[in-house]
Amino acid sequence: MSYAIVYSSRTGNTALLAKTIREILGEEACVYFGPPDAQALAAQTVYAGFWTDRGTCDEEMARFLQSLTDQAVFLFGTAGFGGAPAYYGQILERVQANLKESVRLAGTYMCQGQMPQAVRTRYEGMEDSPRRTAMLSNFDRALGHPDAGDLERLRQAVTR
Ligand SMILES: Cc1cc2nc3c(=O)[nH]c(=O)nc-3n(C[C@H](O)[C@H](O)[C@H](O)COP(=O)(O)O)c2cc1C
Repeated sequence: MSYAIVYSSRTGNTALLAKTIREILGEEACVYFGPPDAQALAAQTVYAGFWTDRGTCDEEMARFLQSLTDQAVFLFGTAGFGGAPAYYGQILERVQANLKESVRLAGTYMCQGQMPQAVRTRYEGMEDSPRRTAMLSNFDRALGHPDAGDLERLRQAVTR
């Protein structure tokens, strides 16, 4: 069955998931691998990867998802905040709102993605508060993600 992997990634976290999916599925049936592009629409299954931007997928990916018609889609993404599965559920719900009813959801996967050091520096400059402490510890927990465990769980979700 033909597939495409379409992803947007600013700092490489989502790109790592995209490359891992290509390794899992093999290159033979891959009709497209890269940033959002109409070429991907020819595939039967589209693996669509996004980085989380203010609680949903980035705008470029939203527009691409809206252009899908009758393909199956597997949504994968990374987010700076981790630790609460319900948070990923909310993000995925907003991302899925871009899909037409004729598009079948084949699966989903999300994990934490590390953030640039500049984000920590910004948190450090904030006045001390429980929120600042929580943001700093979330930042530190995100370091190194996606890690080997995240990629293994991705493999399980893709081959399920
Ligand atoms: C402008 C901007 C907005 C972001 N908004 C969120 C957000 O709402 N929730 C979240 O969990 N992470 C947010 N992040 C963190 C990124 O989604 C996260 O680091 C992601 O793994 C980046 O993926 P990439 O390396 O593929 O670009 C934001 C990052 C940036 C730069």
